Amino acid sequence: KTAALAFSGGLDTTVCVPLLKEEYGYDEVIGVTVDVGQPEEEFEEAYETAEALDLEHYVVDAKDDFADLCFDGVKANADYQGYPLGTALARPVIAKAILDVAHENDCDGIAHGCTGKGNDQLRFEAVWRESDLEVIAPVRELGLTREWEIEYADEKDLPVQGGKEGVWSIDTNLWSRSIEGGDLEKPDYVPPEDIYEWTDQPSDETELVEIEFEEGVPVAVDGDEMEPVELVEYLNDLAGSYGVGRTDMMEDRMLGLKVRENYEHPAATTLLTAHEALEQLVFTKEERDFKKQVDHEWSQKAYEGLVNAPLVGALEGFIDQTQQKVTGTVTIKFEGGQARAVARDSEYAVYSEEFASFNTEAVGDITQDDATGVAKYHGFQGRLANSVAEKVNAS
Ligand code: ARG
Ligand code: SIN
Repeated sequence: KTAALAFSGGLDTTVCVPLLKEEYGYDEVIGVTVDVGQPEEEFEEAYETAEALDLEHYVVDAKDDFADLCFDGVKANADYQGYPLGTALARPVIAKAILDVAHENDCDGIAHGCTGKGNDQLRFEAVWRESDLEVIAPVRELGLTREWEIEYADEKDLPVQGGKEGVWSIDTNLWSRSIEGGDLEKPDYVPPEDIYEWTDQPSDETELVEIEFEEGVPVAVDGDEMEPVELVEYLNDLAGSYGVGRTDMMEDRMLGLKVRENYEHPAATTLLTAHEALEQLVFTKEERDFKKQVDHEWSQKAYEGLVNAPLVGALEGFIDQTQQKVTGTVTIKFEGGQARAVARDSEYAVYSEEFASFNTEAVGDITQDDATGVAKYHGFQGRLANSVAEKVNAS
């Protein structure tokens, strides 16, 4: 029997390798690492650990697919309780890539190293349970704790590396970096500056950057056209150097647990801010209001790892139609750790300088005095209702 394992080379997935053999009766384990834009060191850790374990190891490049999904998230102004969903968006992409490797290798089982407390187990399994492979979650099913894993790894002489990775559980991809565990779990603990790797402490320096969108998708920065992966990497560096894109939050997980989470996401913050600013310019008020609800539903499904749900396709029908007008440029100012839209321009702007300006001259056949009738009626029903209510109080 062969099992494919979602493999990062970290503690959880490393202990899963012998456990799949000892506890689940698998003869062979294949490790699969999916590239969704993690830093080079993480691949080195995966390679080295796989080699030390004598593990057959595949690395699948899914960066482009992942970046496309992140940009679907931009079109939907996607966030969950204020965080731009990096971990959540990556999971279905990773799960699908591992499932493909499992099928190619005629695997019987497919395994992850997620805990039974988090969201990731649900997101992986939602994809895997479409297949008839045995889904295995050793950490959850065997009730493993980090302490037990460290002891077991020591006993078995498994190649686990100490350092930061031992203290914090870090999940990195193109769209965000998540840091959790250890003291960071405590809501009242002030995180040390060194948990951050993508964002610098903001200084007094500022910079303007112009983002160009085509039908809701970011296509260029300061006039340089870039592919999605390159564009996100570029903005992570640039915005990160201004300390843009940190989230320190209490997050309500799917199981109902409330947990403290820390994230950094400089490019995501920049692009989401710019995109929303452009929508403000080209949408009618009712489009803006209604799309907020659509965006919220999209984000909720994305958080749950269910981007393939039929509802998401239907929501995207609406989203994509609205995005036909979301073409133009937005200038973002990085300042004091914030990314703020300071200028926007589009040929589809629902904006008329003539009509909106304080200039009092008539435009076409509309004069200022035309508002008099509107003003007389404004609040009419409320005034009437209040006068009736006075009678109720008097009796
Ligand atoms: N709780 C977050 C989410 O569900 C992030 C989890 C990140 N995982 C990790 N091992 N650090 O999106
Ligand atoms: C885990 O518990 O495996 C990581 C955190 C999460 O899935 O939310």
